[in-house]
Amino acid sequence: MASTSMRWFRRVVTVVLVLAGLYALACAWFQLKHPPPVLGPASRTAFAPAWPRGFFWGTATAAHQVEGGNTYNDWARFERQSGKIAHGDTSGAAAGHWKKVAEDIALMRALGANAYRFSIEWSRLEPKEGTWDEAGWQHYADEVAQLKAAGVEPVVTLLHFTLPVWLADRGGATAPEFPDRFGRFAAEAARRLGPQVRWWCTINEPQVQMYQGYVAGIWPPGVQDHALAVKAFEGLLRAHGKAALALRQGDADAQIGIASNMIYFEPSNRWNLLEQIVTRLVSNGFNWSFYESISKGRLLFSMPGFPRLDKPAPELHGTIDWMGINYYRRNLVTFAPGSPGMVDIHPGPGTRSDAGIEIYPEGLLALLREGRQRYPLPIMITENGVADSAGVHRPMFVRRHAYAVKQAIEEGIDVRGYFHWSLMDNFEWAEGFGARFGLYRLDRATLARTPAAGWEEFRRLAPAR
Ligand code: FCB
Repeated sequence: MASTSMRWFRRVVTVVLVLAGLYALACAWFQLKHPPPVLGPASRTAFAPAWPRGFFWGTATAAHQVEGGNTYNDWARFERQSGKIAHGDTSGAAAGHWKKVAEDIALMRALGANAYRFSIEWSRLEPKEGTWDEAGWQHYADEVAQLKAAGVEPVVTLLHFTLPVWLADRGGATAPEFPDRFGRFAAEAARRLGPQVRWWCTINEPQVQMYQGYVAGIWPPGVQDHALAVKAFEGLLRAHGKAALALRQGDADAQIGIASNMIYFEPSNRWNLLEQIVTRLVSNGFNWSFYESISKGRLLFSMPGFPRLDKPAPELHGTIDWMGINYYRRNLVTFAPGSPGMVDIHPGPGTRSDAGIEIYPEGLLALLREGRQRYPLPIMITENGVADSAGVHRPMFVRRHAYAVKQAIEEGIDVRGYFHWSLMDNFEWAEGFGARFGLYRLDRATLARTPAAGWEEFRRLAPAR
């Protein structure tokens, strides 16, 4: 009797030990595959990078946030009607960039910038379906010419969140005609700006547009519907495909990319296997679905709590020449059976910006490494910046993120450029004018620009001209 229970006891102990060993092995495998990123000690000193030849060092803006006077898009309407913008702000005159292009190009030069990422406003250029606004196109053609003359390479985004009202009224990103209409707009852009513009970004942050507009419901169209969100994701992917095709047909040398918001997701506890797994699911879904779809030629989206999307779309394959990463933050992922999707996602414990975002430059290095591992494409940091009204964080923010890029390049990762968000303070969507991201501080009453904290650090790190 005693020996039978002893045998059972041994068996149970063996099973427990084997399971514990397997668990530890699985955790160790995750640790090895996704080690915590570490920046070299020089990241805090005034290091002097030797950027590769032709490296883009610039700033980024978006039409609706800086131009002023954009009234025919879904955002302008949302600002007036939703009551969801901080302080009741409306974009209004924004930063007055539409009338200050020459002055702003001089400010870019003063910063040592050699490139500028900006968007052209679809609702200005096609205010009524099928009607092009000649003066609007001329404005952007002039802007491109002025940039080129100043030695500043234009990187043009076709869609940075705002949609013409006529399209929004038919369902925006979920409208069946969206991909075709966007393709036609891209063809027109290629025809009119193509000879001068080589670098194109079809869509800015599709996942953010989908999430804020269709899950959180705090951006247009302001709904909360996971199934519709996935439909919007599909629409954005198909629209990218049409636009890429049109750009390629318009200019065989076009360099086409997307600016994808990427969050460095980390498990709250690296030795919790469930959290490791859930973190990978969230990261794959949020960060990589768009690129994975393009690389596989399938519409793919899978994320805890969302309907799954998996349909063939061979026309997407090979439609990008470079990958854009907009990097702002790390988020920690906790397995939380009671929460939607069984996850709780929140900022890490480090210093936070005015926008409540953790400042974590190491995450940029981790994402660059993952990008290289996944796809054989050059990478561009299409946005990176910090809301810092008091001017206490930005100098070190710029330095440490630039260091992460330099370290990645030294590891052999093909990073082609860095664009700081933003040139000047601007209309920050649901935060209104409250969040100040500019390397130039904006006086909202006079629209005057003055160098902000971080200006000198950005200039110091600029490639030699
Ligand atoms: C990014 C957006 C950009 C700006 C920054 C702060 O997600 O692409 O328009 O609002 O955040």
